[in-house]
Amino acid sequence: MTKKFYITTPIYYVNSVPHLGHAYTTIADDILARYKRQKGFDVRFLTGTDEHGANIEKSAAAKGVSPKEWTDIVSAQYKELWKVLNISYDDFIRTTDTNHEHVVQAVFEKLLKSGDIYLGSYSGKYCTSCEQYLNESEILEGNLCPVHKKPLTEVNEETYFFKLSRYEKPLLKYYEEHPEFLSPKYRANEIINFVKSGLQDLSVTRTKVKWGIPVKSNPAHTIYVWFDALINYITAAGVGTLLCEEKAEHEEQLKDIRIEKFEDLWPADIHMVGKEIFRFHSVIWPAVLMALQLPLPQKVFAHGWWTVEGEKMSKTLGNVINPAELAAKYGVDPVRVFLFREVPFGQDGDFSMASFINRYNSDLANNIGNLLSRTLNMAAKNVGDLPEKIEGNYPLLAQAQTVEKAIDDAYEQLSFDKVLEQIYGYSSELNKLVNDKKPWELAKTDPEGAKQVLLELIACQRKVALWLEPFMPTVAKEMQKRLSPGKIEKYAPLFPRIDK
Ligand code: ME8
Ligand code: MG
Repeated sequence: MTKKFYITTPIYYVNSVPHLGHAYTTIADDILARYKRQKGFDVRFLTGTDEHGANIEKSAAAKGVSPKEWTDIVSAQYKELWKVLNISYDDFIRTTDTNHEHVVQAVFEKLLKSGDIYLGSYSGKYCTSCEQYLNESEILEGNLCPVHKKPLTEVNEETYFFKLSRYEKPLLKYYEEHPEFLSPKYRANEIINFVKSGLQDLSVTRTKVKWGIPVKSNPAHTIYVWFDALINYITAAGVGTLLCEEKAEHEEQLKDIRIEKFEDLWPADIHMVGKEIFRFHSVIWPAVLMALQLPLPQKVFAHGWWTVEGEKMSKTLGNVINPAELAAKYGVDPVRVFLFREVPFGQDGDFSMASFINRYNSDLANNIGNLLSRTLNMAAKNVGDLPEKIEGNYPLLAQAQTVEKAIDDAYEQLSFDKVLEQIYGYSSELNKLVNDKKPWELAKTDPEGAKQVLLELIACQRKVALWLEPFMPTVAKEMQKRLSPGKIEKYAPLFPRIDK
């Protein structure tokens, strides 16, 4: 039986248009998904959109459309971008999908029965213009809202709580017993310390937010957007069928749920998230799963944030990078690969056009692309038709095995930068072989020797083309085509140099 690999991105809020930061999480998953498929895994790659909550209600109102109309528009923009960026997702969930709404309601009722959710009340200072509670630290002197400078109202609201406090000890025990669960380590430690400092029960419903999933047994309440959103990962894995077997509420609606057997997919192998939502995924989500008595995901990985030319990406600063525009100008694959070459995965990084162009010219044009053109030009003269199998006493071809092992290890650590370091490093050695052996000169005195060098270079680059495929699927396929058995044609450069 093939091994499954279930990988997720966060589901993206539809209150703003997608930018480079969103693309980062998704491309990371796409690389891993493609790599795992190469390795023979049965991959399920899930992404989608997060569509409820007050902010989305507001965005829609600002555009003069209904929330549903608004989420249809933006959700489609995400899908469009994923197409441009060649994202090979297998499933796209929207939290407004009816089956997801039923699952969320059923989960809520189940936890209500088990006592993990209870009705209580929440009190705090509320700004009616902001439509939200403010923390003591934000409130201005004289009980004023810092934004609207208007007096706040003391509100005492009925709300349902999730008993997060109940899971403080079980979570700590779980982290302890599963050191691979939270990654990278330096971010995991922050989470562990946070949990150690004590967990409070979490308010999981709102009476003021209309654009949300209503609580089945008390529809005056809508379910808190994060509670709704996290559940997407099990909705898409088919938890509906399981809830059905358990004779949950809404058995009728849950019956036609989308997917196969839940146990075949769940637990997820990895939830990929940005660092700002790590806590939701490593504290709240595991606690909800524990309450549901479901297994926890194998791993939650938090990556860092991109700034642009040293500044936070923001609409107001007008420095938001649109990955589709960048791709239209320089090609999709160079954009994909750059993000994982420039910064060790996990850490923050800064995007600048200068570094993008430098990397493009040095890694892609000069190293990978130039090697291929040189090799094929010389091979056209000295080898003739390319053979299918290339075997011989070729040291660099033998070395490919060691490189491949290092690549596998780097993937295991999700060190995409190290994977690329291996590939580019190997390609540099191939370039060095060309410079040392000078096949164009060798051909004059020792044509067979020249042919052997060129065959070795072809065989080695066939490896490189396979290794590059997860990062640069289109370019790698083109490389494979050019290196395939048969007649060598005249080709344009893979990566024309960018003039600064
Ligand atoms: O948080 N650099 O969705 P979201 C790197 N709906 N990554 C960035 C980034 C940047 N400048 N800006 C955004 C949500 N991201 C929730 C998730 S999951 C159950 C619910 C990444 O649309 C961010 O780190 O705000 C995160 O992984 C993703 O975009 C989420 O974007
Ligand atoms: Mg966000």
